[in-house]
Amino acid sequence: MKANLRIGALISGGGTNLQAVIDGCENHAISGQIVFVGSDNPDAKGLERARRHAIPSFVVDYGAILHRYRQEPLAQPLPSDFDFDDIQAKCRLLPAGTDADRRRRFLETRAIAEAALIEAMRPYPFDLLILAGFMRNLTPYFIDRVNQDAARPRIMNIHPALLPSFPGVDGYGDTYHYGCKVGGCTVHFVDYGEDSGPIIGQRAVAIAPGDSLETFKQKGLAEEWKLYPHCIELYAQGKLKVVASAKRRVVAIAP
Ligand code: GRF
Repeated sequence: MKANLRIGALISGGGTNLQAVIDGCENHAISGQIVFVGSDNPDAKGLERARRHAIPSFVVDYGAILHRYRQEPLAQPLPSDFDFDDIQAKCRLLPAGTDADRRRRFLETRAIAEAALIEAMRPYPFDLLILAGFMRNLTPYFIDRVNQDAARPRIMNIHPALLPSFPGVDGYGDTYHYGCKVGGCTVHFVDYGEDSGPIIGQRAVAIAPGDSLETFKQKGLAEEWKLYPHCIELYAQGKLKVVASAKRRVVAIAP
């Protein structure tokens, strides 16, 4: 891979993982640089971090896009290359049995927003796209346009639980409330399902009897800030390879 990896980042919130990656690039723990930060949320605090480090940023306001679609679904133009049947066949984000209208609404609104994301990213060529607390699911419409070579995934995510347990929006909360004695975080490539892509790295955190959800979260986040830069650097060094067979899909890490 590249010695100087061009990293795009998508965020929705505070951006402490983004900060860890920015710091990793600045102190050369990561052989690369962040070339843009995009957000679905105009109020994301992480946008300020991008500004402070003179990284270009943009917002694709998902809330506004979804609102316009709800008001006037037929007035919202779909991307000209939107192929509903293809995307529906690949997408594993919606539970089986989701009714056809809801499925169509979901895939259409996401494609409209994702086409806007792709447009906003266009001025900034990148090698790897990292999701750093980006709280929107990405559909095959977006994924296929970023991953042009199936053997070389280009989208990474960090999830606040030890996958495949506790996918979804509240990994730490779900782990804690289940009563687990161990939780943690996972970095994985993004595929067509929810937090289901091949796992690159994980770190475990013990949940002590005296831990509150907040103290557990803080310990988990502290591990995230080490794990994400580490996995990104493995990618930069060209050390990650997805090896798939009928029963397994693993990320092999070269020594
Ligand atoms: C992190 O816990 C991350 O694992 C999850 O969202 C949270 C984002 O935190 N996907 P931050 O915005 O990086 O501070």
